[in-house]
Amino acid sequence: MKLLVVGGGGREHAIIKKLKENPEVTEIFALPGNGGIAKDATCVPIGATDLDGIVKFARENQVDYAVVAPDDPLVLGCVDRLNEIGVPCFGPKANAAMIEGSKAFAKELMKKYGIPTASYEIFTELDKALAYLETAPMPTVIKADGLALGKGVIIAQTRQEAREAAIDMMANAKFGKSGATVVIEEFLEGPEVSVLAFTDGKTVKPMVSSMDHKRAGDNDTGLNTGGMGTIAPNPYYTPEIAQRCMEEIFLPTVRAMEKEGRPFTGCLYFGLMLTKNGPKVIEYNCRFGDPETQVVLPLLVSDLLTIMQATTKGTLAETDVVFADKHACCVVKASAGYPLHYEKGFPLVMTEEAEKATFVAGAKLENGQLLTAGGRVVGTTAVAEDLPAAIKEAYRLSDGVAFANAYRRSDIGSRALQALN
Ligand code: AMP
Ligand code: GLY
Repeated sequence: MKLLVVGGGGREHAIIKKLKENPEVTEIFALPGNGGIAKDATCVPIGATDLDGIVKFARENQVDYAVVAPDDPLVLGCVDRLNEIGVPCFGPKANAAMIEGSKAFAKELMKKYGIPTASYEIFTELDKALAYLETAPMPTVIKADGLALGKGVIIAQTRQEAREAAIDMMANAKFGKSGATVVIEEFLEGPEVSVLAFTDGKTVKPMVSSMDHKRAGDNDTGLNTGGMGTIAPNPYYTPEIAQRCMEEIFLPTVRAMEKEGRPFTGCLYFGLMLTKNGPKVIEYNCRFGDPETQVVLPLLVSDLLTIMQATTKGTLAETDVVFADKHACCVVKASAGYPLHYEKGFPLVMTEEAEKATFVAGAKLENGQLLTAGGRVVGTTAVAEDLPAAIKEAYRLSDGVAFANAYRRSDIGSRALQALN
């Protein structure tokens, strides 16, 4: 079977390494992939949002199945376009990817179907947003409606900060068109849990839960990033909470999407907050999370391609989705300065043992040499019988990845360890 994977980060590397375990897979094309992915797939320099290029390539190379991993091509309709030429895909069509593409859409869906989330108001006019902020309780959360690379969320502690955030998004177009509409919502408190779930539009099979570490600095300080590390399973996510989430959030969401004529297939990501009033949705993503995928897929025992195809064929109910009863930790090594300014182009070297455990996010190949090419450069994952062992081993393996100006957090998993004790 010839597979095509759209995207080129650590998440895509984790997906590709897992897909390769299926003996029927003869070739994997990564569009565009990256220098590290080139070890495991044929990288083709076609951008993830170049839908014409992707469709042309899929047709010319008789691709049997495609996995569209990032949010932008999904929201742009990459799956719709590939389906038109007869290529079955893992991932939602554009009308369902809207669940991530528009926060306003997601909030209205939750309100209409009684799915628990922070209370909110939607604004398209700055003066109305500013008037609302005069009496809104602080802190408050201001979100750009559209995709903003995970950076379009401001938690304002004071009225002044809230006003500035609204002005930045709505008048100064800080997030471009994504901020023309803003959602202003209630500030929620509690531990956060990421749950990725396979769905064929009717059946939902959640993956093992995980915990992201979004802030750049130790002890959750500094700026928000794409994610500096993950652990799985998330100790806050007990079987009782999992049951509640299935009944109150996962199934109602999938049923709501079907009712709206936007059946969701692929991986639906639930960003949850476990508040004292029960689990609530912070955000939906229409795709695998990154770096969540880098701890979740290494724990998957069942065959990934078989599950993905079941989501496309509508046979997920009869398909096994089994995870190992173990623990995983992923430590991200980034370029110092990320998520703001950082230098790149430094040689990246890995010991053989580290390379086996590493998913490459930002590197390119030049004359056979890997060079750093992004903010997040690699994620290194260890699987072990318990969480302390997984954390220790992930850091040990991460030591085997070297490049100039490398930066990592030193406390990935420590909050989870505290929760366990
Ligand atoms: P998002 O980009 O939607 O994942 O939001 C980024 C982060 O902002 C989340 O991981 C939460 O930590 C935080 N956040 C988002 N919405 C809220 C909320 N309503 N209350 C408290 N924190 C929030
Ligand atoms: N790690 C969060 C995300 O993928 O959106």
